[in-house]
Amino acid sequence: MNTIPVWIDCDPGVDDAAALVLADRLPELELLGISTVAGNAPLSLTTENALKICDLTGTDCPVYPGADKPLLREYEYGESFHGRDGLGGAKLPAPRRKAEIIPAWDALYEQAKTCGGKLELITLGPLTNIAIALAEHPDLPDYLHRIVLMGGSATRGNCTPSAEFNIHADPEAAQVVFRSSVPKVMCGLEVTEQAFLTKQELDLLRTHESAMCRFFYEATPELLRKNMAVGQGGWCVHDACPVLYCAKPELFSGREAGVFVETQSELTFGKTVTDLYSDKKFDTKNAFVVLEIDRNAFRDVLLTTIQAY
Ligand code: RIB
Ligand code: CA
Repeated sequence: MNTIPVWIDCDPGVDDAAALVLADRLPELELLGISTVAGNAPLSLTTENALKICDLTGTDCPVYPGADKPLLREYEYGESFHGRDGLGGAKLPAPRRKAEIIPAWDALYEQAKTCGGKLELITLGPLTNIAIALAEHPDLPDYLHRIVLMGGSATRGNCTPSAEFNIHADPEAAQVVFRSSVPKVMCGLEVTEQAFLTKQELDLLRTHESAMCRFFYEATPELLRKNMAVGQGGWCVHDACPVLYCAKPELFSGREAGVFVETQSELTFGKTVTDLYSDKKFDTKNAFVVLEIDRNAFRDVLLTTIQAY
């Protein structure tokens, strides 16, 4: 099987951890680089968490730190959801190795050139690093096959009534990405809120005595409670969706649409204005918006992968 070369830009984050585990184990993918960005936690913590998760999976994939704040706005620490440590309070040993020195945007560009245009960029946090990479390296679009991002929504928000967290955290960066010529797949809240694990499904991890199962069992109770308190079916593993989409697109469906980001209004900044449900359309359909997932298949792949360690 020809594996798909992927790069993951992330802000671990418990669902980022699930995405990194899938990327490590799914045979369809080859994880070539990880970059980190401030989002669920400050950059120092998201970078340390990425290194800890790499120790958990056993990968030696390099980790490149990126931006510690949004392009223009102040950094707002998303402590409320993933906890002060960014991993829901789950305890992991100190990382065995250090992050790389080269900044994320330069390392991504070099890897994209090495892959000759085949690299698929998966983003799981604010899009600051990608916007900087596009500014520093204007020919980056020539070397990226596509960007598959977790972010945004055609209809709702989870950070404000208008905006999803990753876009809200750095709307100017998101606008740069949505305006870029790189083909884009948007895994927004419409599909990622379908990608949940119920309490009963999470309890299955208790029956496996492994560091991996223990991590997810310890990291998710508060997230499960918060997600269910707003009517979700369980713990929403948002960031698993883009990784699974790259490996198993047959589990998903969606439609091409025009998507652009509001950056001006105090009320709605960070909203991904999507023309999916409007009779007035944008001039271009610049993204494939994922809308459905086979949740049972998602659940089976994720639980099987976590239990395989
Ligand atoms: O809105 C969900 C997104 O915000 C996920 O990427 C989660 O990790 C948080 O970063
Ligand atoms: Ca994330």
